[in-house]
Amino acid sequence: MELKENALQTEIYRIRGQGDALTQQDLEALKRGGDILKKGGLVAFPTETVYGLGGNAFDPEAAAAIYRAKGRPSDNPLIVHIYRMEDLEQVASAVSEKAYLLAERFWPGPMTMILPKAKAVPLQTTGGLETVAVRMPSDPVAAALIRFAGGFVAAPSANISGRPSPTKARYVVEDMDGRIDMILDGGENEIGLESTIVDLTVDPPQILRPGFITARMLADVLGEDVGMDPGMLGKDASLRPKAPGMKYRHYAPRGEMFLVDGPDPGVIADCIAGRALQDLEQGEKVGLLVGSSVARALNEAEVPRSAESGRVLLRVIEDEGDQKEIAHRLYAILREFDDENVTRIYAEKFPEEGLGAAVNNRMKKAAGTVLTAGEER
Ligand code: TXA
Ligand code: MG
Repeated sequence: MELKENALQTEIYRIRGQGDALTQQDLEALKRGGDILKKGGLVAFPTETVYGLGGNAFDPEAAAAIYRAKGRPSDNPLIVHIYRMEDLEQVASAVSEKAYLLAERFWPGPMTMILPKAKAVPLQTTGGLETVAVRMPSDPVAAALIRFAGGFVAAPSANISGRPSPTKARYVVEDMDGRIDMILDGGENEIGLESTIVDLTVDPPQILRPGFITARMLADVLGEDVGMDPGMLGKDASLRPKAPGMKYRHYAPRGEMFLVDGPDPGVIADCIAGRALQDLEQGEKVGLLVGSSVARALNEAEVPRSAESGRVLLRVIEDEGDQKEIAHRLYAILREFDDENVTRIYAEKFPEEGLGAAVNNRMKKAAGTVLTAGEER
């Protein structure tokens, strides 16, 4: 798809208030943003997950403008963001008891529900589907903007299609300056990975995209296990993911990326070191994203020494058990590799528990190839 020319004058406003407290100036800027959205314009805004690229959810032309600005295929539906529970039934034609149980527990917060769509939501917003994705973000800037916009903001992540979702305002500026009307800079996003998507149109509900709200947390509220969309898990290549966005090679850095799994840190480090040294000989620039155990094992190889030459970028998750840190830093590290023109990336596969499922899901989407260390070469 053709990208729109960088022809617009984009207002970039830095939020001044801290935490939940917004200043008078902030509120004025948010009001301007709300007015832009009401008139069919586009405003990027922070949420607790990643930055969103907002447009009026009831305006088919706003949806079209979002697709243009992102360079995104228009069959990939948008999430409708609301700011209060009583608005849910304006966008969803039926809200089951289970949906209310989840909403009451996890909203406002990083959970998106798929529900049957209300007539008022145009098919352009839902990518032609009769269902709608709805989420109530907890970020106070997001909530205020949605309120000033009249309550219903359709927003995908604010990146150009195929790039990692932006977790800092400067990445939104990189991708969207000149393409949209306004960017609200609210600093770094708290979580750094997109919301968990739960499909409530099937019973038991199913996770279409893992996120901060885990299968376990959902099951605890519902009193039954939730499923995982088999198409998303990708074990059977004939099944397509139910969330259209999950079928694309997504979150892709510019360099070729390999996700490296293995029985222990030593074996993973050996695999990475062997390949990286070969890549360096061939003139590649290498980016490594590993936990501290693999980093220690890599120390014994010559790889880190090459880091001094600037041809290896080593990014270490110091506390590799801290999944929040991994989630929080992942997209920024991938973008940094892009900025430094890294051509080969090796990332360690982190443990699958808790938030790890979401981290590994995004890493798999970013990586062209998954390697099992010890079984190859
Ligand atoms: O955390 C988030 O969810 C962020 C912030 C901005 O809220 N938004 C976000 O939007 O990640 P986006 O557009 O990048 O991802 C939305 C995902 C896509 O994979 C899309 O295919 C899926 O949600 N989706 C939207 N509507 C759907 C529907 N009706 N049925 C199935 N999947 C849907
Ligand atoms: Mg996205």
